[in-house]
Amino acid sequence: MEIIKTKNKLQELVGKLKNNGKTIGLVPTMGALHEGHLQLIRRCAKENDVCIVSIFVNPTQFNDKNDLAKYPRTLEADAKLLEKNNCFAIFAPEVDEVYSSEELNSTFEFNFNGLDEVMEGKFRPGHFNGVVQIVGKLFELTTPDKAYFGEKDFQQLAIIRHLVATKSYPIEIIGCPIVREESDLALSSRNALLSESEKQIAINIYKTLLKSIDYQNEKSIKETIDWVITTINNIDGLCVEYFEIVDGKTLQSIQNWDDANYIVGCITVFCGTVRLIDNIQYK
Ligand code: PAJ
Repeated sequence: MEIIKTKNKLQELVGKLKNNGKTIGLVPTMGALHEGHLQLIRRCAKENDVCIVSIFVNPTQFNDKNDLAKYPRTLEADAKLLEKNNCFAIFAPEVDEVYSSEELNSTFEFNFNGLDEVMEGKFRPGHFNGVVQIVGKLFELTTPDKAYFGEKDFQQLAIIRHLVATKSYPIEIIGCPIVREESDLALSSRNALLSESEKQIAINIYKTLLKSIDYQNEKSIKETIDWVITTINNIDGLCVEYFEIVDGKTLQSIQNWDDANYIVGCITVFCGTVRLIDNIQYK
């Protein structure tokens, strides 16, 4: 397994692979790899001749500089895990290999068709501009046949699908289910920032979402939203930033359970100072 640091080396490798008729799968990550990432990587390695994993803590998608500074960076440990999981090459560039100083000091413009105006987009202004900027660059450098993303970042996945459609990239986007701890807490690199007692508290996020599925049978969308928010906020140590029930395709809020065929509830909760996201499919 090769660790590639430059765009030139990556393009050289991709050129060779394509000349030899190999199919390429790409898994973009920011490292600090856990089982949630590894699920994507194993699937990618199985469904393509080669699996390329990018590890890059992308500064343009962090609207909070403190969050960027705190983000765990564990390349050596990540490389060991990837070696064991059939990764063919890691692309782990430095920031100045990816961005000019002009790009670092401006917001990448993109027409999201409203997909960025709700939920994460509303609470983290500019976040998805940075995501689309880096993923577009990775797609153009790697030209993968398939690229793998987790449903944990539900809005991100919808936006990547929109990016591919807008730019007509010939790439199949594969969405993969959320991987959870035994306690049902969604795996996240940020879980490492939780104390043991915070972890016990955080379990209640998904427990409440699960219960809301039964609750949904007799209640309206508004009642379900109010119940989830109140139940979680009543737990000491948890504070809901938003909970929205949306059309899974357009990400726009809906008023009635009959308004869409694919309905998802998306939540962000602060557990202490750690921001955790999760979601559940109602329909
Ligand atoms: P990162 O948070 O490292 O996540 C990389 C990929 O792993 C994403 O597609 C994410 O949805 C998926 N993932 C993380 N935790 C998961 C879990 N518990 N179950 C299933 N999939 C999970 O998302 C990013 O990085 C960045 O925004 C990126 C796309 C790399 C652009 O910088």
